[in-house]
Order: sequence, then C-alpha cells, then structure tokens
Amino acid sequence: MNSQPNRRLIRSGIIVTPDEIFRGDILIVDESIAHVAPHLDDADARVVDADGYHILPGLIDAHVHLREPGATHKEDFATGTRAALAGGVTTVLDMPNNPQPTTTRDALEEKRALARDKAMCDYGLFIGATAENARLEIGDWGAVGVKLYMGATTGDLLVTEFDALYRHFAARSRLPIVVHAEDNDALKFFANDPTRTRHSARRPPISAALAVSRALALAEETGRQLHIAHLSTAREIELVKAATARGARMTCEATPQHLFLSTDDEERLGAFGVVNPPLRSPDDVHALWQNLQHIDLVATDHAPHTIEEKQSAKPPSGMPGLETMLPLLLTAASEKRLSLQDVARLTSHNPARVFHLARKGEIAAGYDADLTFVRLDEAYVLQKPWQTKCNWSPFEGRRVRGRIARVFLRGQEVMADGEITANAGSGKEIGLTTVSE
Ligand code: DOR
Ligand code: ZN
Repeated sequence: MNSQPNRRLIRSGIIVTPDEIFRGDILIVDESIAHVAPHLDDADARVVDADGYHILPGLIDAHVHLREPGATHKEDFATGTRAALAGGVTTVLDMPNNPQPTTTRDALEEKRALARDKAMCDYGLFIGATAENARLEIGDWGAVGVKLYMGATTGDLLVTEFDALYRHFAARSRLPIVVHAEDNDALKFFANDPTRTRHSARRPPISAALAVSRALALAEETGRQLHIAHLSTAREIELVKAATARGARMTCEATPQHLFLSTDDEERLGAFGVVNPPLRSPDDVHALWQNLQHIDLVATDHAPHTIEEKQSAKPPSGMPGLETMLPLLLTAASEKRLSLQDVARLTSHNPARVFHLARKGEIAAGYDADLTFVRLDEAYVLQKPWQTKCNWSPFEGRRVRGRIARVFLRGQEVMADGEITANAGSGKEIGLTTVSE
C-alpha cells in the first residue's frame, strides 16, 4: 500500500463560487481540498491542467428517485449514480417512495446496504413519513431528511391527517422535513372532473397553494425546519416570500422541468411530460425566473420510468433529470438569465447548507474535493446515449451551451469526457458523521 497522501494540484481553472469567480489553483490532499489560491506550487503533487475550464463545486442533487429496491427496471443505484456523474452531480439525496417504502428502520438499512455496494457518487437517504411512524424517532435513524407527501403521487406514501402531520413536525429532530406540497383533497376533486383532461388541469395551482400554506403553518407553529420540494407556481412564491419575511425557518426548491418546460410543451411531450407537480403555465414559469433569489436550490426530481411504461394506457408521472440539469442551467447562464455564481449557489452551496452537509458545497480548504469541470464554449444537442436506465429525456433534441468535461469525487477523477471511471461502491453515504451541528 502506498502510504503517501494523494496530492493533486488543479492548475489555472476558473473557480466559481457563490461569491466570486477567479482564476486559481486547488491543492487536493487525499479526499479533501487543502488549499485554494491564485497560484500554488507543490513539488509532490500531480498537476491537472485546468486551463480553459470553469470549476464548480460538485453538484448536490437534493431530490432523486433511484428506484432501488423494488423498481430496478427503471433505475438502480449504479445506473442512477452513473447518470449523476455524467451530469456533474457528485452527491444525490434519494427519496423513499419505493414500492416497499423506506419508512422503517429495517427498510432504511436494506436500502443503505444496496447503495453501499453500488453507488458511484456520494449519497444521502430520506426516510418517508407515514401515519404509522409519526410517534417514532425517525429522525434518529441516519437519514438525511424526512420526506412527507401531502398529495398522492408515484408510490403509496401519503400523510393527510392532522394528527400525523402535527406529530411529524413537532418531533424533536434536526432533520429538515421535505414536503411534496399538493393538497390531496384538491387533487381528488379535480381528478374527478371529466372536463379536465390535461394532466396540468387535474393538479391545478390551487392544490399546491393549499398544501404550502398548511406546511408553512405547521412549520411556523412547531419551529421545525421545512423545505418545500419542487415549487412550481407564482402563488407558492408569494406564500414563500411572505413566510420568509416573517422569519419562517423554511427553504424551497425548483426543478429544471418547471424552469425550462411549460404547459406549452404538454401536447408535444405527451406522457413524457407527465410529472407531479405538473408542468405549469408560461406565467408561472416566468414567476419562478423572476423570483430566483427567493428559491434556495434547484434539484432534479429525477424520476425515471421506462419508455414502455410512459407509452402505456396509464403512464406514471415523472421524468429523468440528472444528466440535463447542469447543461440547461449553463445555457441559461450563457443567456444571462442567471449568473454562474447563481448556478453554484443553487446546485451546491445551498443544498449543502439546507441538508447540513458539513463537508460539501464549497471550493475551500477543509471541504471534500468534489469538483465539476465545465467547458462553457461548447455548444451541442442533448441526445442519447443516456446513462439513466430509462434512456430518454424530455429535453432530448434541445441545443445547449456548456459541456460537463471532468468530475472529481473526494479527490478521485470519476468522469472524463463523458467516460465514467468510478467503481461501484466509490460513493459514500453522507451519514450523521458528516452532518454538521
Ligand atoms: O412526477 C413525479 N414522480 N412526482 C413525484 O412526486 C414522484 C415521482 C416518482 O417517484 O415517480
Ligand atoms: Zn420526487
């Protein structure tokens, strides 16, 4: 065994952080960033020439469905984390709505063992809230957050009764509660209306507004940290802005599908555009872009289903997103719709802060050496082959600017020019040991 520490000197990259963009060098020792400065020398380090690359902190996707166990025909920990690395994502947080949902200590342990052997990027696991586990200390089982579905979607997870909702919010836990905020009574009401044929009309904005209001009231009453998943409407933004102004302990996320697609794409995409929350009106999309400073993070809600399932009589909701989020955001940055600093803030810095990931989300000494190199000058078309097992994308055919060139995970190069060199098991769980107080 070589006992020499692994030293690498990333030379002359353009380093992007939420605060600044500057040309500089990054010294990596073993798995961590040791030093960042405009110029560094280190006689023992292997030099990586980063001239011509922008370097982002490795992306943290706080919302993915990697489908294992139970639906590995759609995705598994190996294919899902390969898709992550291809997309410049070095950490994923996996959702609990598996066919056997991740709602018990045993189910979490089972998932943990599967991920440990297969994951190629780092990961955290959500525990699902149910009426049954509302009296248990589910926050102590090593999950990275509690996911609570207020409206029915893929899988059976759902909490609608006040007593279970209140108990989950009032539990003494430092984990954030992430809510899928669509009101279930509203969803049932509109789904029964035969005049509403489009998916977006069957889950209209009022469903989201009702659930967000309810979740905010619970969080403000109990003081529990709340994170609202996939905010998609102007009305939710107004609720969030008012809550933030009151000092509520809450954050929110938006997805690429709600930022880059709208109801104008619904017909063209057919079942491939069916997702929950649904695609929204161009006015809602506009409101998200106008209020980007009120959105804490962008996460994919990577929710793969097979092409056959999508073409069936009852297509399931969800779309993959891990491989397309960063190219879409870089393209928007090239169009000046947001800045590169915004991209670093939304996809890495803030997800690490919301989920208390102490060693993630910064290009600074002491943090994990998770780095995503991009070439901003390269324009191309998003297309197959995809790494995700479902092998399709709603963004296929879209022209983008900004290619993901190389990815480092805790100091190791795991992707170069689209080729993934990570091994099954390269990824580590972000457990309680790496979570800051
Ligand atoms: O469209 C969706 N698909 N929304 C969800 O909330 C769940 C997801 C899935 O797991 O397929
Ligand atoms: Zn989801």
